[in-house]
Amino acid sequence: MKQVKNASSHYRRLLGYLRPYMGGFLVASVCMVIVSSTSGGAAFLIQPMLDDIFIKKDSGLLAILPGAIVLVYLVRGLFRYFSSLMMQRIGAMAVRDVRNDLYRHMQHLSLSFFQRNTTGELVSRITNDITLVQDAISIVVYDVFREGFTVVALLGVLVYRDPTLSVFALLVLPFSAWFIARLGRRMRDITRGAQERIADLTSLMSEAFSGARVVKAFGMERYESERFKAENERYFNVWTKTIRLNEISSPLLEFIGAFGVGAIIYYGGRHVISGETTVGNFFSFLTALFMLFAPVSKLGRVYNRIQQAMAAAARIFEVLDLKPEVAEQKGAGVIGPVRREVAFKDVTFSYGNEPVLRGVSFTAGAGTITAIVGMSGAGKTTMVDLIPRFYDPAGGAVLFDGVDVRTATLESLRAQIGIVTQDVFLFNDTIKNNIAYGREGTPMELIEAAAKSAYAHEFIRSLPSGYDTVVGERGARLSGGQKQRISIARALLKNPAVLILDEATSALDTESEIEVQRVLNNLMENRTTFVIAHRLSTILHADRILVVERGRIVESGTHKDLLAANGVYRKVFELQFAANSNQG
Ligand SMILES: Nc1ncnc2c1ncn2[C@@H]1O[C@H](COP(=O)(O)OP(=O)(O)O)[C@@H](O)[C@H]1O
Ligand SMILES: [Mg+2]
Repeated sequence: MKQVKNASSHYRRLLGYLRPYMGGFLVASVCMVIVSSTSGGAAFLIQPMLDDIFIKKDSGLLAILPGAIVLVYLVRGLFRYFSSLMMQRIGAMAVRDVRNDLYRHMQHLSLSFFQRNTTGELVSRITNDITLVQDAISIVVYDVFREGFTVVALLGVLVYRDPTLSVFALLVLPFSAWFIARLGRRMRDITRGAQERIADLTSLMSEAFSGARVVKAFGMERYESERFKAENERYFNVWTKTIRLNEISSPLLEFIGAFGVGAIIYYGGRHVISGETTVGNFFSFLTALFMLFAPVSKLGRVYNRIQQAMAAAARIFEVLDLKPEVAEQKGAGVIGPVRREVAFKDVTFSYGNEPVLRGVSFTAGAGTITAIVGMSGAGKTTMVDLIPRFYDPAGGAVLFDGVDVRTATLESLRAQIGIVTQDVFLFNDTIKNNIAYGREGTPMELIEAAAKSAYAHEFIRSLPSGYDTVVGERGARLSGGQKQRISIARALLKNPAVLILDEATSALDTESEIEVQRVLNNLMENRTTFVIAHRLSTILHADRILVVERGRIVESGTHKDLLAANGVYRKVFELQFAANSNQG
């Protein structure tokens, strides 16, 4: 029961998207009423045709009626064409709006949303689910109106011709309605299953395609194909079920109808034979009744399609109703570049139940370099992710010059933070646009200057199309070091007050690493820098080193202080850095 109520509220919400197009919608509806009345008209005209032309042999009427029929169908065709066109266009416009809303909303959701859902699931929302909704809005609304009006017009003829018989004939309808409703509920459940299966299939594919290198290296092509085959089979099974249900509804309805028709012919035949009604009157009734079948069974299918679409709409609205976990406060203020310090005050955080940060406190003076070291999984990345508010702390606060970053607008906060991480993300666009990402209209000289400071200018120039070279998906056509230098140029162009380097060189080979490291030293100058490093050279440069262990800062100080303290740092140092210290 609750589900049904939800479905209708989803439907109302969907119809809300039609509101801006109400004017056109009304015009189209009026055209449809005209189309539908012609159906009633055709059934109605059977009576004069049979009784007056064929039985009474009225040649005057014979001169008029055929022309009238042609005229009626001409009008009908024209109105039908225009009303369909208009309705479907309005439906498509509404769907376009839903799609834009959904995408915009997703863009503003927090990072955690994108980590909880696979790309395949998210893409499926915007493609498959929206397609189902499109069906509901454009075709269904159109069918409901046209067929609905037609049913009304034909019912009018029925009742006019024979009220008693109409009552009998219509006894069949409630039974069909009950049957259709039952079918609809089954349909909705199965469609939901089918949509989930296709989402699974999509994420499986996108994973295997983007991981093609790993798949090949481990000789897992056959395994991946089998995995796909199994998932594909599951989808096929659900789909077959959907088809079966979809296709059984019309034949069943027609069969039920046949009983009614048999009974009616028996009843009508007796009445005509006994002279209680005319042949024309009865056949006009019968024509209207036959003409009712198509729209009624179409309406039955419409119901099923509404059910399918509602399952999709439910998933769309579920996303649309998600509130970003990291949201801007009402009345958030613009925050200027850091002038005194960035501070963590007793910060705690967890992704789930396990605490990841436990009471982290420190202060980093403006313009200084803070290095963060610790074992993998200690919580270093999580710590720096709280600075641009990719996540918010569960307890405590991150402060810029004493101001809680949660009271600042996201735009002003993130505008002053530059981030360079281990896995570089480049868009499948030109190098120029990748460097100037988020800074449209940057003059070419500035882009080149940034590339020069990032030691990227030389290699970019040597590419066939230079700065206009398209880098491929995620930068596939460039080497790791080249990608990293482009991402550094991107950060340089932003000229951020706060710089976060999260193992920026760890994905690189020694040669590019030395090169990139040199660039990073340029980049760090005059900025408040947080650097998660595995290179000794970076750490030696740092004004302060924070040693993180299982979500806590266990030691802090300069390299010398910490070595002298002979604690955790010394151990980590000997494990991680001593081996390659001569290269750093
Ligand atoms: N998005 C996430 N969802 C759930 N747990 C996470 C997520 N990111 C990191 N973790 C967990 O949080 C802990 C700290 O991770 P992280 O900050 O990435 O460590 P580090 O950067 O020091 O290697 C680890 O136990 C890791 O498994
Ligand atoms: Mg990390």
